[in-house]
Amino acid sequence: MTRPTRALINWSHFRHNYELARSSGSGKTYAVIKANGYGHGLVSCARALSTADGYAVACVDEALTLREAGIQRPLVVLQGAYSEQEWKLAAEQNIQLVVHHPQQLQQRAAVTLPAPVGVWLKINSGMNRVGFRPQDADAVLAQIAADAALDLRYVMTHFASADDENTAQFAEQLALMAGRDWPVPLSISNSAALLTDKSVNGTPVEEGVRRPGILLYGASPLNYRSAAELGLKAVMTLESQVISTHTVPAGETVGYGGDWLAQRDTRVGVITIGYGDGYPRHAPAGTPVLVDGVECPLIGRVSMDMITVDLTDHPAAHIGSYAELWGENLSVDRIAALCGTISYELFCQLTPRVKRVAKTLPSDTPGPCKACN
Ligand SMILES: Cc1ncc(COP(=O)(O)O)c(C=O)c1O
Repeated sequence: MTRPTRALINWSHFRHNYELARSSGSGKTYAVIKANGYGHGLVSCARALSTADGYAVACVDEALTLREAGIQRPLVVLQGAYSEQEWKLAAEQNIQLVVHHPQQLQQRAAVTLPAPVGVWLKINSGMNRVGFRPQDADAVLAQIAADAALDLRYVMTHFASADDENTAQFAEQLALMAGRDWPVPLSISNSAALLTDKSVNGTPVEEGVRRPGILLYGASPLNYRSAAELGLKAVMTLESQVISTHTVPAGETVGYGGDWLAQRDTRVGVITIGYGDGYPRHAPAGTPVLVDGVECPLIGRVSMDMITVDLTDHPAAHIGSYAELWGENLSVDRIAALCGTISYELFCQLTPRVKRVAKTLPSDTPGPCKACN
């Protein structure tokens, strides 16, 4: 018997969500699978979407992992190169790079490349994280055009607040990108923007490549609409089992710090999952856990390897009962909101100790995904 704590990955839901994104408009859809595929497994995500238009990752290391696994489809690195050596690797491996800072072009000029590199020019349209300021765009576009080793593919930007409804900031960033003629198509949409009307004065803004991430994994990118309302399907189901039950008399406490006080005789269930697995330590009492399909509230603090739930109103629960922490039957967005965070963080902080296991095994996906861990 191995520890029953695992993340079941439903690859057919992943493909469903990708197709939903792809059908949202013309142009290409690059699947954002950085950070180990938002915790779902980098190589497994790429293999599950073997006909994707392309993939986006954060760094050259992630891109190389995909190439080493035999993934040959287009790849873009969202942070671009950190060094001259990475420019060379990108040229050798046919990896496209985002250019967001003059230093990257200096590094590029310092090295002879074996082949031209496809580049995406990043404009800082208001996020103020990375990217060239709009007033510097003409100069950098000229610099790229003059360099035979650079092949400009797209001009891109990233929205700061597409997840909120009708923000002035989104409208300003969109207008800025739509308000001039660029020499190549745009890439502007993350998941939230992909699901948002992007018209300026009634004219939809055309886009060459969309870059959805979180929606592929079945969580909602919009603060004002649920994943179910958007037709998204949960990809990861985090599951475990009850390993102990016992009764704590009224007036006693449960867990570290003794800050959960039993108001009645309480049947406590212990489930083998904790912050050592990535279940959030700050999940408050009352956070639901599905035990054999019945919602039971978390009680006491989350430990490294265990959590405790109140089974008093679920007398049929027993040692071996199935527990779902989030997934197909318990929205990850709901758990994230209770924990004061976002689904992205819950997915990404799952630790390697949690086995990622494919729920369905269609012929074009890997088996139990060793690569995930
Ligand atoms: C530049 C860029 N594009 C696209 C994405 C995907 O965003 P989301 O997961 O919200 O769809 C990210 C994610 O952080 C990003 O940094």
